[in-house]
Amino acid sequence: MTLKLDPWGHFAIESYEKLFSQFGIQPIDNNILSMLPQKHRFFSRKIIFGHRDFDKWLKAYKNGEKVAVLTGLMPSGHVHLGHLMVFEELRFYQEIGVHVSVAIADAEAYAVRRIPRKKLMEYAREYIMYAYAIGLDPKKTRIYFQTNSDTPYYRLIQMFSRKVSMAEMEAIYGELEPSKIVAAFTQVADILHLQLPEYGGYKWVLVPVGADQDPHLRLTRDIADRFENELGLKRPASTYHKFIRGLDGNKMSSSKPEYAIFLSDDEETIRSKVMKALTGGRATAEEQRKYGGEPWKCTVYDLYMYYLFEKEEDLETLYRDCLKGLILCGEDKRRAAKMLIEMIKEIQEKAREFKDVIEDYVEFPRF
Ligand code: TRP
Repeated sequence: MTLKLDPWGHFAIESYEKLFSQFGIQPIDNNILSMLPQKHRFFSRKIIFGHRDFDKWLKAYKNGEKVAVLTGLMPSGHVHLGHLMVFEELRFYQEIGVHVSVAIADAEAYAVRRIPRKKLMEYAREYIMYAYAIGLDPKKTRIYFQTNSDTPYYRLIQMFSRKVSMAEMEAIYGELEPSKIVAAFTQVADILHLQLPEYGGYKWVLVPVGADQDPHLRLTRDIADRFENELGLKRPASTYHKFIRGLDGNKMSSSKPEYAIFLSDDEETIRSKVMKALTGGRATAEEQRKYGGEPWKCTVYDLYMYYLFEKEEDLETLYRDCLKGLILCGEDKRRAAKMLIEMIKEIQEKAREFKDVIEDYVEFPRF
């Protein structure tokens, strides 16, 4: 069966491996790992598992060329652990001196997710606050709203639409509606506009995203090729991360709040959510001791892998102890809850510092 990635779908991707063979996404291999200027657990644990042209981008970085990172977020709900990953990835690049831009996809969220403008602005404020709280430097990070962009950006959308056929669009996305077509071209403009002299002329742009966004990157790469002569555009590079699962084992999403951990959750809420999480444990403690657990099924293990354990050996020990039945889910959950509460409290404290200064750094649309 051929796999279709739906950037607007709500489903977890079942097999990340298939993305290599079906779409030509390259695996993050040892060669890439050795080219990274700094280590990060997202790479070493293959949470960021695939890429397109990341090797070329890393080479450009190493050679001191003008490089940038750009990603976008739909302000479609409260900020949860899935978003936190993206902020942390951006911080990683900012710390190694790369220019970071973030698109707030308010045009897309309005048109495709049908979220009212007022809500969008509230959510956006929350996103930006937490982005700063986890360490993106407000002075160095360029955060912009899609609907607040100016002429050269919007001109790109008009120009791009001329060189793509409906058949091509449908081959990439499946069935489409006007709102999605406009959202797709808008995202292409997000990704490519940094290359224009008006926006800094960054020719080496890396787009770190969830694997569901790859259709947009395929469209963007085709369009870049077609405008190579006219606008001097180059293909962007991209990396793909796996999503942290919700506590029910499906994609973490604000539409299922009982299974998502929000950065705004209080202590009690976090604890009770974690205690109810789906694990790879057996029906009884006795069976667990006898047969061992199945950590790959466990959403609490995900919490350790994505966030709670920095050291590889801690993660390995947990995996082994779980497999051997040496550790039971109850105690493991209590520890995870405690660590998570600490981590989130710290982020919340930082967030308070930024709550009232967001508009000093980011221009909000006025309509
Ligand atoms: N479509 C993305 C999402 O669903 C958001 C987005 C908009 C984006 N513009 C972008 C992502 C540019 C990467 C690059 O979340």
